[in-house]
Amino acid sequence: MTRIAVTRRIDPGARSVLESAGEVTMWDSDLPPDPSQLAELLADADAGLTLLTDRIDGSLLDQCSKLRVVSNLAVGYDNIDVPACTARGVAACTTPNVLTQTTAELAFTLLLTVARQVIPAADAARNGDWKTWYPFRFLGRDLAGLTLGIVGLGRIGLAVAKMGEAFGMNVIYAGGRSSDEFRKVSLDELLRTSDIVSLHVPATPATHHLIGHDALARMKRDAMLINTARGSVIDTDALVAALNDGRLFGVGLDVTDPEPLPADHPLYEFERVTILPHIASASEATRLKMSDLAAKNIVAVLERTEPPHCLNPEVLTDA
Ligand code: GLV
Repeated sequence: MTRIAVTRRIDPGARSVLESAGEVTMWDSDLPPDPSQLAELLADADAGLTLLTDRIDGSLLDQCSKLRVVSNLAVGYDNIDVPACTARGVAACTTPNVLTQTTAELAFTLLLTVARQVIPAADAARNGDWKTWYPFRFLGRDLAGLTLGIVGLGRIGLAVAKMGEAFGMNVIYAGGRSSDEFRKVSLDELLRTSDIVSLHVPATPATHHLIGHDALARMKRDAMLINTARGSVIDTDALVAALNDGRLFGVGLDVTDPEPLPADHPLYEFERVTILPHIASASEATRLKMSDLAAKNIVAVLERTEPPHCLNPEVLTDA
């Protein structure tokens, strides 16, 4: 019997796709399994549909001798040790493309929210602090004419760049693919000249704390910083220090380090910081597409056909 383990509740459509290929066991909770529960869940599975909260590394894989595929319900895969998968002949799959526009829209939502002080203004209205029409309160920044710096021009970064251009911003980028549409600059120039810095790089050793004390000191004092990539790209302590020093007009974070960010974390004390609980791809349609794609990756590997998005296709030829 082929067994497929799913590490969180997913929608019935994706579950039926998986049921066409094997018996499905689903972790029946809104909270993730802890590492030992995860190992138990995957121990006798041929396939695992995993989330970015599940750490898939060599020591876990060594406890799952039957496993042939892990399919992450995400485009990011820093939770998966891909070389460890490859060494054990396990295919590692992801769900890119279907979430590009949704994620870019959330990045731009954060950008507008921070630029126009939407959260402090909405809080004032809700909390009885709306006494009149204020000529000089909740003043934001107009986007047109500002410089938007995209760090990491991948699919999502490019979509955000196009939105910025449509709002009349001067768009520059550092890192990622090359584009004729936008001006490529060094990271140093981007940090020094951008009014808004938006992060779109994956979490890797090279991007860990890319935005630390030094980068923050190079940014304009009244710049805005938006992160919809991974929390570890920003050094959280350095960010708190910069904010305490009066730097930055505003910050929008959909991802944090640590994640979830504890409710008593100092970052919540800054009115000019907007924090969201990692919802960038969370539209109904997109999460359904992601679940479907994650399931189809699994079915394809189990049926020895080509999965839509495999990070280490070399393991498939040996299967
Ligand atoms: C979400 O963060 C993803 O990587 O899809």
